[in-house]
Amino acid sequence: LRLAAAVAGAKVQAAAVILGRFNRARAAQLTLPHFVCQTPLFMPVGTQGTIKGLTTSQLEEIGCQIILGNTYHLALRPTSELIDELGGLHNFMNWPRALLTDSGGFQMVSLLHLADITEKGVTFQSPVDGKPMLLTPEESIQIQNRIGADIIMALDDVVKTTITGPRIEEAMYRTLRWIDRCIAAHKRPHEQNLFGIVQGGLDPVLRDICVKGLVERDLPGYAIGGLAGGEDKDSFWRVVAQCTAALPEDKPRYVMGVGYPLDIVVCSALGADMYDCVYPTRTARFGTALIPEGVLKLKHQAMSNDTRPIDPTCECMVCKNYSRAYIHCLVTKDAMGSQLLSYRNLFYMMKFPKGDVPQWVCNAMEVAGIDISLCCTSSC
Ligand code: GUN
Repeated sequence: LRLAAAVAGAKVQAAAVILGRFNRARAAQLTLPHFVCQTPLFMPVGTQGTIKGLTTSQLEEIGCQIILGNTYHLALRPTSELIDELGGLHNFMNWPRALLTDSGGFQMVSLLHLADITEKGVTFQSPVDGKPMLLTPEESIQIQNRIGADIIMALDDVVKTTITGPRIEEAMYRTLRWIDRCIAAHKRPHEQNLFGIVQGGLDPVLRDICVKGLVERDLPGYAIGGLAGGEDKDSFWRVVAQCTAALPEDKPRYVMGVGYPLDIVVCSALGADMYDCVYPTRTARFGTALIPEGVLKLKHQAMSNDTRPIDPTCECMVCKNYSRAYIHCLVTKDAMGSQLLSYRNLFYMMKFPKGDVPQWVCNAMEVAGIDISLCCTSSC
């Protein structure tokens, strides 16, 4: 990725968190309790305290710096009390590097259609016994304090960007009211970094109010939430561009639920630092590999006698040792197929490779002030 190379090569004081800049893009060092991370970074989603099919040594081997876990899932099983008793999530899952937990509200709203949001918190039906349960901002923080991740997320009121009307405004103001309850409930501020989440849908006025409100609270980091939910790409990058321009330079900016490799390139060009998405591992389980040209479907019959590696230019363990034909043979028959593909896809995401860049990327690059020749292929 030439853009990343340019960022890393830029000269800025090493004393600052920012290691290099290229216009709005930056490469930074993020010192967390369990690991010193280099940004831009991608966090694989380990909902239940595992990246499905991969060991933590394999994750270290591919250069993974930080994993995301979900408060909601871990609170249900094995429970945050048990994790705490067993020495925290790092210890429990044998992961020495950094962890981030999402607050739970988003997962409940996206997974459970019966979730109901009020000022108190998010009410949902327990998938364990069907009883109504309430997750308040205080409870979310208490659970996350027990789990012990390096970064914990505030409980936010999440609304799909495709919804319009007063609900967007209500959710943004509620997110701002909840941040104060989260800050007050946080018992381990010296060991865990509480990030606030900017909401406000696609409305620049609401996003502006939310950014300003969160920045006033001087949090250790900020996330841009409520995106990657079906909005068009131009609306998506405009929200990211607005938020990154208004957030403090010396704090990490995390775009939640993003994304596809191209989205990550664009957001990084616009000054974002951190990302998470189920896509690389979920698509692996469906038999798809990420490659510089896009995707490679290993289930396809044409793979059955293809002796090449997934990506002949790739240095990963899977590409060095296995053929497309072998993985084709495994994908629907043996767990090893999705394990090898998950390994390969996460390796790819850690390296931030470059794909073909379409027009909307160029539009965003122009706003970011980036020379198109640095980041686009001749097809752009
Ligand atoms: N994951 C993806 N988007 C969001 C969001 O807006 N809020 C939270 N808490 N998690 C997310």
